[in-house]
Amino acid sequence: MIRLSHRLETIANYISKGETVADIGTDHGFLPISLWERGISPKVILSDVKEGPLEKARDNIQKYFPDNPFDIRLGSGLNTIGIGEVDAIVIAGMGGMLIADILAEDLEKTKSCQKIIMQPRNAQEKLRNWLLFNNFIIYDEVLVQEGKYICEIIAARPAGASGADGVNEESSSLNKKMNPLDLEISPILFDKKDPLLVEFLENKIRIENKIITDIKNGAGKNELKRKEALEASESRIQLLQELLKRSKREK
Ligand SMILES: C[S@@+](CC[C@H](N)C(=O)[O-])C[C@H]1O[C@@H](n2cnc3c(N)ncnc32)[C@H](O)[C@@H]1O
Repeated sequence: MIRLSHRLETIANYISKGETVADIGTDHGFLPISLWERGISPKVILSDVKEGPLEKARDNIQKYFPDNPFDIRLGSGLNTIGIGEVDAIVIAGMGGMLIADILAEDLEKTKSCQKIIMQPRNAQEKLRNWLLFNNFIIYDEVLVQEGKYICEIIAARPAGASGADGVNEESSSLNKKMNPLDLEISPILFDKKDPLLVEFLENKIRIENKIITDIKNGAGKNELKRKEALEASESRIQLLQELLKRSKREK
């Protein structure tokens, strides 16, 4: 049996038994191969924009299930699948803006699936913003430790699509009136008391402190710009510290 990393296993847990899946940017193909192997997904599509990663997926198929004719497709984003062809789309391990671009290319196709499970490596706030403004419901989020990184997994569905998630669309914690920090640190993580939230916030504070040190050491730069950048960082750190206090209190 293929053993998935904790990150991929967490993504796999969002797929319900019987759901068909397209893994966009599949690379090694472990996630869809495992979903099929465990009898969770009767049909999986392994899709990638480059031949090299698909070769890795073919090697893994050869190693584990040489007799199964897996559906491997070469092409960018959702161009490799048809409208309504799968129940769930997985896009993991790419930048948040690239994920948003892939979803935006053909909104009708994107909205023809019931759920989209994403793991953006950066620009998470931009992806959330894009999802909310394009009428998707972010129905769940979770943090996962992978090596020294904390990964953010976002589960969304088109508004109106029947979801087994039980999220009321009117009262979802994430809505279009979010402030920038809410878009960056999902309120869902507070609602759920995510076990990694404290560490996640502490990391952000550490990064901001480093930025402040760099600004203070940035002699020679335009003094006014330096002052503005310092003020912005200091007020951000204050907000982050308030969130940290709240997450520790509610833990
Ligand atoms: C870092 S790997 C992630 C692999 C796997 N999804 C995971 O999370 O472990 C990113 C993969 O996305 C693929 N990719 C990048 N842009 C893409 C696009 N526009 N459409 C499909 N795949 C893309 C890359 O070729 C690469 O194989």
